[in-house]
Amino acid sequence: MAEITRDEVAEGDQDEPNYNKERIKYSPEEERKLERQHFWRVIDAFRYYSTHVHEQVKRAQRQYRSLTQHHQSLLPSVLPNLTHISQCVEHNQEVLHAIVHNCIDMFENMEYGEEEELKKLRPTSIFDMDKLKSTIKQFVRDWSEVGQAERDTCYLPIIKEIQRLFPSDQYDVSKLSVLVPGAGLGRLAWEIARLGYMCQGNEWSFFMLFSSNYVLNSLATTRGHRTRLDPSASLTLTPRAYPLPQTSPW
Ligand SMILES: C[S@@+](CC[C@H](N)C(=O)[O-])C[C@H]1O[C@@H](n2cnc3c(N)ncnc32)[C@H](O)[C@@H]1O
Repeated sequence: MAEITRDEVAEGDQDEPNYNKERIKYSPEEERKLERQHFWRVIDAFRYYSTHVHEQVKRAQRQYRSLTQHHQSLLPSVLPNLTHISQCVEHNQEVLHAIVHNCIDMFENMEYGEEEELKKLRPTSIFDMDKLKSTIKQFVRDWSEVGQAERDTCYLPIIKEIQRLFPSDQYDVSKLSVLVPGAGLGRLAWEIARLGYMCQGNEWSFFMLFSSNYVLNSLATTRGHRTRLDPSASLTLTPRAYPLPQTSPW
């Protein structure tokens, strides 16, 4: 199984452009505090998702209803689509809750606080919500059937090159270490590990780490219980308003 590790986390600026930014020096204590704050901010984004999208849906409904009857009649599918989005969002939220459920103890080298924090629902920034929505879309690319074609385009050439350079009939591939830098949701690392290579993915975004930890580690342990969130049963994250079938990674 691919192992996802985390090298470093800087408060808030993980994926923001940092050219022209001066590096601020923090004491180790301040860094730990900032990292904890960032950790909880990302969790807040996972937990606030449905509230945020429902607000957007309500705004769209209000805008639609403010149109004249004639214009509304030209767009008959708008309200049913919005209702469908609301249903998908509820399901997505279930999955997102499951993803953050075991996060507090995810890293051995860092304490992030109390589980009590998970009960508080705090609004989140647009920036963090956008990161979360990209994470959901990336789920589709990495772990759904509809993402297969894209995976074949971007991951297969890498996998083939590894196999060409280190074929399993000439090497004991279990002794070859492959690093996937910036491993995202871990699909490439998982594919390489599945071929028998020793593979490690490195990633620093909590959005990615929480999610890949869920797919690669948590689901494997709950598999026997056949929960609704087991991908072999029905892990369906919906980036837009249609449900997607999921492949099982097992
Ligand atoms: C363009 S995304 C690609 C993700 C994944 N490889 C994929 O194809 O879906 C780049 C990833 O690298 C991660 N990343 C960027 N700089 C990093 C660093 N210095 N250490 C660890 N991860 C990093 C980002 O968080 C992001 O998830």
